[in-house]
Amino acid sequence: MSSTNPPELPSDEELAAMSREDLVRLGGKLDEVDIVEYPDPWPVKGTRAEKRAERLVALWFLIAAASGLAFAGVFLFWPSAYTAPDTDGYFMYSLYTPLLGATLGLSVLSVGVGALLYTKKFIPHEVSVQQRHDGGSAELDKATILAHLADAGVRSTIARRSLIKRTAGLGAGAMGLGIGVFALGGLVRDPWAQSDTENSLWHTGWKPKHEGEKVFLRRDTGDPEEVALVGPADLDAGGMETVFPFRETERKDHEALSKALKRSDNPVMIIRLRPEDARRVVKHQGQEDFNFGDYYAYTKICSHLGCPTSLYEQRTNRILCPCHQSQFNALEYAKPIFGPATRKLAQLPIAVDEETGYFYARSDFIEPVGPAFWERKS
Ligand code: FES
Repeated sequence: MSSTNPPELPSDEELAAMSREDLVRLGGKLDEVDIVEYPDPWPVKGTRAEKRAERLVALWFLIAAASGLAFAGVFLFWPSAYTAPDTDGYFMYSLYTPLLGATLGLSVLSVGVGALLYTKKFIPHEVSVQQRHDGGSAELDKATILAHLADAGVRSTIARRSLIKRTAGLGAGAMGLGIGVFALGGLVRDPWAQSDTENSLWHTGWKPKHEGEKVFLRRDTGDPEEVALVGPADLDAGGMETVFPFRETERKDHEALSKALKRSDNPVMIIRLRPEDARRVVKHQGQEDFNFGDYYAYTKICSHLGCPTSLYEQRTNRILCPCHQSQFNALEYAKPIFGPATRKLAQLPIAVDEETGYFYARSDFIEPVGPAFWERKS
């Protein structure tokens, strides 16, 4: 039932002498709130049911802690380097992303379930009726609402539930640690430890494995072992082909051949410009000899967020990225001319092998492919 008669206001002395409980009820009355029900969820302290409820909440926080730590462990120690299907270690590698999602998801879920259960089991389920009113809050109102909040804290009994406090701190802490590792993991794992190898962000699978090795351009026929090299006669003027690196030393090596086709920074598009367009080409400083006649090879990895820039429009000589519609001008060293990308597509230096008549890469890209990263200067 709601009361409509405002209560008598206490003097300053009376206010100072009031207990928390009195202030709570007075505050309710001043706001025209009637507390209809305010039951203590555990009127008899220390019962087995209460202890069971406490352990249940603690269990969820412990699950949060375990999964948060598991997330950090997976992020740091699980094998995450790309492994091609049908090769050793692929199964473990394929579990990496699902495990990250499952452990972090379970950690967040468990903290949420623990908090919900605590609210359900230990916070009094108050039923109150309040009349609406206008205007700001007086000092009296502020004092009473503070008392109300403090009362809720005391009645929630959190102060004396050290098991829940400890496990909640552990669960939330481990989850926070997992998220922190996620954010700073790149620094913990030192991505630059192998900056000179083909597996760092600075290099791709086009990097020759030894001095003088020729890395040829091959197309993907669907069968890794069917090696189809690409030469100038394979492209018509205005044509484009996607190519991948191939080394003679890997001709019979199924694992290496599949890896070269699947590695994410390997795909390159080789474009043969029409002769009338080729005359208008503007080359990038220091990369004037990267093309072979009218043939230009650019990475297919978009410099915005790394999608494949798979579309080449012959009429306009634009290379398009379907993800966020960036466009690059193939006549001007693939510099971005529309959309969110701000860097040109990296150009692969190519030539034709006199012996075989096929294209090969004269070196790896001289700049990183794909999106920016902190240490990238170009
Ligand atoms: S990834 Fe290519 S435009 Fe965004």
